[in-house]
Amino acid sequence: MDTRTAHHGGDSPEPPRRAAARVLLRNWTGASTVPSRSLYPHQWSWDSAFVAIGLRHLSPRRAQRELEHLLGAQWGDGRIPHIVFNPAVPAGAYFPGPDFWRSSEAGRPAGAPRGTETSGIVQPPVHALAAWLVHRADPAESRRRGFLARAYPRLAAWHHYLTARRDLGRGGLAAAVHPWEPGLDNSPSWDEPLRRIDPAPLDSFRRADLDHSPAADRPTDLDYGRYVRLAGTYRAHAYDDSRTPHAFAVEDPCFNALLIASEHALARIAQEAGGDPAGHLERAHRTTRALVARLWDPDAGLFLCRDLHTDRLLADRTVSGLVPLIVPGLPAEVREALMHTARGPHFGLGRVHLVPSYDLLGPHFDGSRYWRGPSWFNMAWLIHRGLRAAGRYDEAKRLSAAFLTSALATDFAEYVEPHTGEGRGIRDFSWTAALALDLLNDDGED
Ligand code: SER
Repeated sequence: MDTRTAHHGGDSPEPPRRAAARVLLRNWTGASTVPSRSLYPHQWSWDSAFVAIGLRHLSPRRAQRELEHLLGAQWGDGRIPHIVFNPAVPAGAYFPGPDFWRSSEAGRPAGAPRGTETSGIVQPPVHALAAWLVHRADPAESRRRGFLARAYPRLAAWHHYLTARRDLGRGGLAAAVHPWEPGLDNSPSWDEPLRRIDPAPLDSFRRADLDHSPAADRPTDLDYGRYVRLAGTYRAHAYDDSRTPHAFAVEDPCFNALLIASEHALARIAQEAGGDPAGHLERAHRTTRALVARLWDPDAGLFLCRDLHTDRLLADRTVSGLVPLIVPGLPAEVREALMHTARGPHFGLGRVHLVPSYDLLGPHFDGSRYWRGPSWFNMAWLIHRGLRAAGRYDEAKRLSAAFLTSALATDFAEYVEPHTGEGRGIRDFSWTAALALDLLNDDGED
């Protein structure tokens, strides 16, 4: 499809910038942006970071407010919750909602806010990177509002939570304690660690996601039973990482690569906000060394997830393992091998639509089901950044063009089938629109 126009609900073509902006304006609630009016009617943590990266091209001020609203729900222990619930949304519109997490009571010892309900788990730390990019969009307005000066201590506390309390493997990486935390909810990588989790009975909860998205595009009921069990156990231990017997504990390459990229951004933010960048740079380098030492698999030519219960790497190849391409200072041979893997038969870069979330040749590949094969737009955006960091400008350009074509052709779908390019999940998905806007405004400066 021609990337210069998009169609929405009628015959009149709409310029791409306007089409993307329309999604973001529609999904703005007055305080933040919902990922989707139907499927995800609250504020999500890493969604908001990606949204802010796009919103900065429409309104740097609104992009700042997006992040500020999320940071306003930070817990005393530093965690940024993965959902900030909007009290105006009817109970039952999303599961698990505020009555499941009960953060303001159960999370009190960990410093959960009193006046806002949130979930108790986290998502990948894209926030400092987003804050830096938002600042760069209009530094004068950012300084005038004291945006970075206010955000800096909160972002630093967030990273401190991850590196101090979540280093469950004691090897210098942050661990995820629920399959939703790395963002790749039902990735085949979690099949093995999830097998040891006794699922919550199906009649003990009601899924709301299937009201909005086809069951074939979503995780299964068995997956949900396990998600509920893990979250319930965390809640029963007051979301205290030192007391919870985390039955699921993994080190994920994408999560930690984003932590490193954000730590580099935090060094720049510190400089701007009158802090000391050196500590952040030192931590970024240390985490990079740990990432390579603990998650790099030279035989696969890919970063893999580590299961902390067995202390072994999980063999499944997922897009998460390519995301470290964004990490500054990755050893040259690792970067080369990653590029080779991205272009090879497992991910088919340049030959399939965007970058599949899971190995095209893998035994669990399903091109429609959430994180078990479909290509996601935020992953393509990250790989695009990685290609540029590796100096592969032509490949980056091709991926950017494919992103825009796909986003517009599918009405900003949540994800696409990698072989056919057909949209899957819901439409008018915020981060798809936001990151399209970012690529449309790409001046190569970032
Ligand atoms: N992605 C999850 C969901 O599908 C939550 O983070 O609801």
